[in-house]
Amino acid sequence: MASGGVIRGWGTALPEKVLTNDDLSAMMDTNDEWITERTGIKRRHIGGTTSSLSIESARKALAMSGLPLESIDGLVLSTTTPDRTVPATSASVQDALGLRCGAFDLNAACSGFVYAYVVAHGLLAIGAKRLLVIGTDTLSRITDWSDRGTAILFADGSGACVVEAVDNGGQLLGWDIDADGSLERLLYADVGGYIHMDGKEVFRRAVRIMVDSAQKSLAKAGVSTDDVALCVPHQANARIIDAACRQLGIPLERTAVVLHETGNTSSASIPLALFDAADRGRLRNGDLVLMVGFGAGMTAASAVIEWRQP
Ligand code: ACO
Repeated sequence: MASGGVIRGWGTALPEKVLTNDDLSAMMDTNDEWITERTGIKRRHIGGTTSSLSIESARKALAMSGLPLESIDGLVLSTTTPDRTVPATSASVQDALGLRCGAFDLNAACSGFVYAYVVAHGLLAIGAKRLLVIGTDTLSRITDWSDRGTAILFADGSGACVVEAVDNGGQLLGWDIDADGSLERLLYADVGGYIHMDGKEVFRRAVRIMVDSAQKSLAKAGVSTDDVALCVPHQANARIIDAACRQLGIPLERTAVVLHETGNTSSASIPLALFDAADRGRLRNGDLVLMVGFGAGMTAASAVIEWRQP
């Protein structure tokens, strides 16, 4: 029985339509200077559906892995914004990709991709061989475009990877998943409704729970922040990233940031940043990567992985 996995191929997808801060200024009482200073976001991509973006990123990941479709034995789609209540969006994605395997959605808000990656390792540990792990959200569909407190933040995107079982321990060295449901009032959307958020309180708690979760994963991996070659935080707000990385003692040069281009894409945020770094050649075999996210629920998740490519 295999005990771990390694990422074999990856892909990302962003809708074509770009909404800049100036575009938003024409729609509501805000401006580029305020958004840039308070969030670090300059533009975001809007459009598509959760299934269409998932299919696009997953096709790229499958092609890069070079693995045959019939070898994939499971699909985990992390999303807060499914296309339908029933069935799971992963069913549409599985069918469109031509896969015949188990498929399910997972919702842990913006921590969802790391949750899905950890859950995939649970499946590998009990005998699965190759899993497609996707993080996709279309938050623009549940954003109130008249609320300047949230509309400036949220956007759409997807990231996917194939995780293959290996016998030599795999690349996941330490992980943590957490949630505190008593805080759900800070960030929620009712079925059919828009996102409501207490931005200041989310901000305050986000830094603490990211740092706590990261420290748990680092301790489980038996490493320190000095050993981390790249930190990949949830792309919610540049100030949250700065504060969390400062507390962890990780300089911004060792941090992956794409949110100026993407906004907060929830489940897609960490894979978009991780695979952007990989595509730019920022990762070498043996590098330790710390992924750390937080989200509604209030969830947190982190993982320390050793980057390994054939
Ligand atoms: N443009 C211009 N002015 C604005 C805007 C805007 N878009 N939004 C608020 N303001 C004004 C406010 O009205 C307020 O004015 P006042 O002082 O005259 O009352 C002033 O700017 C300051 O507002 P704050 O809400 O105090 O601004 P803050 O510095 O807290 O920034 C923000 C707000 C960006 C939302 C911040 O709190 C934040 O990023 N919080 C975290 C949110 C987050 O990460 N959420 C995602 C969680 S992950 C998930 O699961 C989806």
